[in-house]
Amino acid sequence: SLGLDAPVTVEYHDELGSTNDRGRELAAEGAADVAVLADEQVGSRGRLNREWTAPSGGVWLSLVLRPERPPAHVPLFTLAAAVATTKAAREAGVPAEIKWPNDVLVPVDGDESNDDTLGRGGRKLAGILTEMEGEADRVSWLVVGIGVNANIDAETLPAGATSIREEAGDVERRLFVQRLVEEFYALRDDSEAVLPAWREYSATLGRRVRVETPGGVVEGEAVDVVHPGALVVDTDEGEVTVHAGDCEHLRSA
Ligand code: BTN
Repeated sequence: SLGLDAPVTVEYHDELGSTNDRGRELAAEGAADVAVLADEQVGSRGRLNREWTAPSGGVWLSLVLRPERPPAHVPLFTLAAAVATTKAAREAGVPAEIKWPNDVLVPVDGDESNDDTLGRGGRKLAGILTEMEGEADRVSWLVVGIGVNANIDAETLPAGATSIREEAGDVERRLFVQRLVEEFYALRDDSEAVLPAWREYSATLGRRVRVETPGGVVEGEAVDVVHPGALVVDTDEGEVTVHAGDCEHLRSA
């Protein structure tokens, strides 16, 4: 048990293919409020069909949820997961920030900050992959997968990534997960608090961005995040609200 102040059952594995796959299996069986944890994943997945490296020592976690919400509200849960992760990382001494929509980064120091070759605005500490099944008006289940490079050596990290070990020294993973999950559930129960907290931790607002959306590229200054997690970009043609896409931070003019 994690000794949690949130209504969650924990299922722990030394090794799994992917905690999200296990979460989907549980969700299909009707489970809710389960936290699947693994020390190591051998088939983990990232956003946009990317690979995700998940060696022993990280926090690899998937939350199975059954919210009474329309599918359109799902991004709020992903943003809440990014906020909870960022908060837990800051408590561990890591100056984490969120790049829209849900990459948790540690900004690169000084002159480099606008000029990293990856266009990510920093080194990646954590990422979130949310998967769902549902009808048009109601979510049937959600799996919010959260991967945090926690107690991982620099040599083991992918290019452009960092870890809690590198930034601040090791964390007690049990306590880290406890804080993260508690914070996530606090936001689930107070969804009005998600966007203000996200704005506070944002690395994206006020920056020039280039977002590849399904409908084309949107470039301009990121000026706000609005319900249910969309990014408002001030472009040459006026304000554009982007609901999904891959966001790159650009060098400021
Ligand atoms: C991203 O591309 O930034 C999202 C990465 C999400 C990785 C986590 S680790 C726990 C969960 N299980 C997976 O297979 N993926 C997510």
